[in-house]
Amino acid sequence: MDIVIVKNYIEMSKVAAGLVRDCIREQEEPVLGLATGGTPIGLYQLLVRQYRAGLLSFKHMRTFNLDEYIGLDPAHSKSYHRYMQEHLFSHIDIPRDQTFLPDGMASNLEKECRHYEKLLKKFGPPDLQILGIGENGHIGFNEPGSDFNGHTHVISLADSTREANARYFQSLEEVPTHAITMGIKSILHSKKIVLLASGERKAAAVRRLLEGTPDPTFPASALSQHNDVVLIADEKAFGN
Ligand code: GLP
Repeated sequence: MDIVIVKNYIEMSKVAAGLVRDCIREQEEPVLGLATGGTPIGLYQLLVRQYRAGLLSFKHMRTFNLDEYIGLDPAHSKSYHRYMQEHLFSHIDIPRDQTFLPDGMASNLEKECRHYEKLLKKFGPPDLQILGIGENGHIGFNEPGSDFNGHTHVISLADSTREANARYFQSLEEVPTHAITMGIKSILHSKKIVLLASGERKAAAVRRLLEGTPDPTFPASALSQHNDVVLIADEKAFGN
């Protein structure tokens, strides 16, 4: 794993934006794996800025998001569909039908998982996957105990994850109990993985990640099985 330690959140976002820009410029039809949460918002803002400055086009890009809450309509203010529209898609020139997220409203969730995995096979794997990390080590919504060989599946969210994400909702009760997430195996298929971590809330998870021993109770440790992972952490997440 390559480790880049930067001063703060803005620097983390800049380094990540540079890697995404390189990937988009190198590939004729780039495929990007995208994450949600607070961590990548700065990265998306920088990509939008580059698009507006005419430095980058997303016309030929396809994107796959890691996850979506079950039971939230795409138009719901806290759905990841809406998040992606608000933070990235509506501001750039990517055609709508080139952006993929799991459908958390599907009547047959198992079928939806298989369908998403098929799309990943057809258009993927991502040339570059952006990842955040949960305080409990989750990646996507692969909670502690998730199978390292897992593909896209339905997951019951850990209490600690619902509590951590309650800050984005009005109350803890509003946070969905389940989600669809790409599995750890699906994530590991990406050609390159860029893991972002910012702030002292992430310091314990980053410390454990750097121990480097694969351990199913700490999902992010599966990344040690991939040969092209870049961790971009700011000083606080790195424990400085
Ligand atoms: C969320 C998402 C993850 C994200 C993580 C950290 O629940 N499913 O993809 O990386 O938790 O979120 P944040 O960046 O808000 O700390």
